[in-house]
Amino acid sequence: MDSKLLFADAATIATPVLVVFAIDTQSEKDSDARPLLLGASSALEEAARTLLASGEFKAALGEIAVLHAPAALKTERLMLVGLGKANDGSADTLRKGAGAAVRAAKARAVRELAIVFPRPARPDDLKFADALAARAIAEGAEIGELDWDTYRSERKERSVETLTIIADEAARTEVERGFEAGRIVAAAQNFARALVNEPGNVLTPTELGRRAKAMCDVAGLRCEVYSSQKIQELEMGAFWAVAKGSAEPPALIVMAYEPANAAADGPVLGLVGKGITFDTGGISIKPADGMEKMKYDMAGAAAMIGAMHAIARLKPAVKVISVVCSAENMPDGRAYKPGDVVTAMSGKTIEVVNTDAEGRLVLSDGLHYAKTLGCTHLINAATLTGAVSIALGQLNFGVFSNDDAACEQFMRGLAVSGEKGWRLPCIDDYRDHIKSEIADIMNTGKNRYGGAISGAMFLKEFAGETPWVHLDIAGLAWNERPKPWLAYGPSGVGVRSIIEWVRSFEAKTTADSRG
Ligand code: BES
Ligand code: ZN
Ligand code: ZN
Repeated sequence: MDSKLLFADAATIATPVLVVFAIDTQSEKDSDARPLLLGASSALEEAARTLLASGEFKAALGEIAVLHAPAALKTERLMLVGLGKANDGSADTLRKGAGAAVRAAKARAVRELAIVFPRPARPDDLKFADALAARAIAEGAEIGELDWDTYRSERKERSVETLTIIADEAARTEVERGFEAGRIVAAAQNFARALVNEPGNVLTPTELGRRAKAMCDVAGLRCEVYSSQKIQELEMGAFWAVAKGSAEPPALIVMAYEPANAAADGPVLGLVGKGITFDTGGISIKPADGMEKMKYDMAGAAAMIGAMHAIARLKPAVKVISVVCSAENMPDGRAYKPGDVVTAMSGKTIEVVNTDAEGRLVLSDGLHYAKTLGCTHLINAATLTGAVSIALGQLNFGVFSNDDAACEQFMRGLAVSGEKGWRLPCIDDYRDHIKSEIADIMNTGKNRYGGAISGAMFLKEFAGETPWVHLDIAGLAWNERPKPWLAYGPSGVGVRSIIEWVRSFEAKTTADSRG
């Protein structure tokens, strides 16, 4: 999709569809209040007046109404897109609204649309800055545009080709800034989604390495992709234990962003991703039902590769190194077995109780390796446990940390990224979950209670004293039910928040004005 900004009066724009956002202003006090259009001139207000007065359109989040041949406007159709209640309004409702507009246009085979940039009609209607609004719209539109029909032989070509955001000249600087950032972030998220969408027979660890390298070459990042030999040389016994059961060689992918303007003694951020390109469970094999989904067990890796893509373009003044541990988890004559004891790169011994808890094994070596590369702060993303969805459902990813300040810094970024994460405990009271009778630790909890916490406790052993944040994205990486603003399939969750966390290390501005 080609998206651009235009500073003009929306009433004069000739386009197939002109989109205006609306908020629901009904309250207990005033249950007859009609939706309020955001950023609309009097000509636009007039065109929508009869429809709004009818009460048919409630402006619920994602609700759409289309008016054909609106009077006194140059557009062929006027599309009203609901954002929900004004006081629920965060910039994320704009992200969703823009996505819903694009998807509604696609469904109507419309190739071109224009969105009226929302300005508050009353001071309390919108609580976010113009840059953040522009960014959210750019992101939502690009993210909403994609559908996953790559593997259909007869694809319906329904892409929206051109999107124009029409804004007021007075907001130009802020809108341009947010719009540019939004496009970069959305491209990164879509890149991650495309990786997650690939089936396991196409996206092997080697292929994931190839795609990361190709991205880095274009983006100007340093990238090394290693395989079995290097993993064994580094004595990554945990990573290797998982990898050795597959005929597909593993990939250890290291990407580095080292800007000249980063302070020599400044932080070095480590982004570590779980890249299991297919998780059968290994010898502790998974049930057949739903196993096909386990191609998305590399969504954490994809999030990190996507984030690096954006970081290379946003150019924050902070060093970032990403380590992706990619392998297939397979049952085989050479596969690791329940009961095996393996030695991780850090020297810790691990009793393998269940070969399906493989993510924490590859990550344990990834986290330790990132520290040896000089990382001072760590973040990892992983589809680590089914248990995290039992705890949090499919709305929030799990956030775990060994450091309150690092965690709060991450959580503050959620207001900008619009993603939802919920912190769960990762305190030493739970250490007992991973206590082994025969080795330093074991790779599953003693029982199934608090399974997401057991996984986090295991990883914490390898973060050690380094401030670390762990994102368990298993419940959100695959969107099971299509939403008005998001297609079925890979969501690209994590990418935006990880980028925001990286930016927070250099940002002097407040979260609210960051675009
Ligand atoms: N890849 C799975 C976790 C997962 C489950 C991701 C559902 C996405 C959707 C992970 O490797 C796994 O199998 N975890 C086990 C851990 C258990 C054996 C301690 C689980 O969640 O059952
Ligand atoms: Zn598993
Ligand atoms: Zn897994």
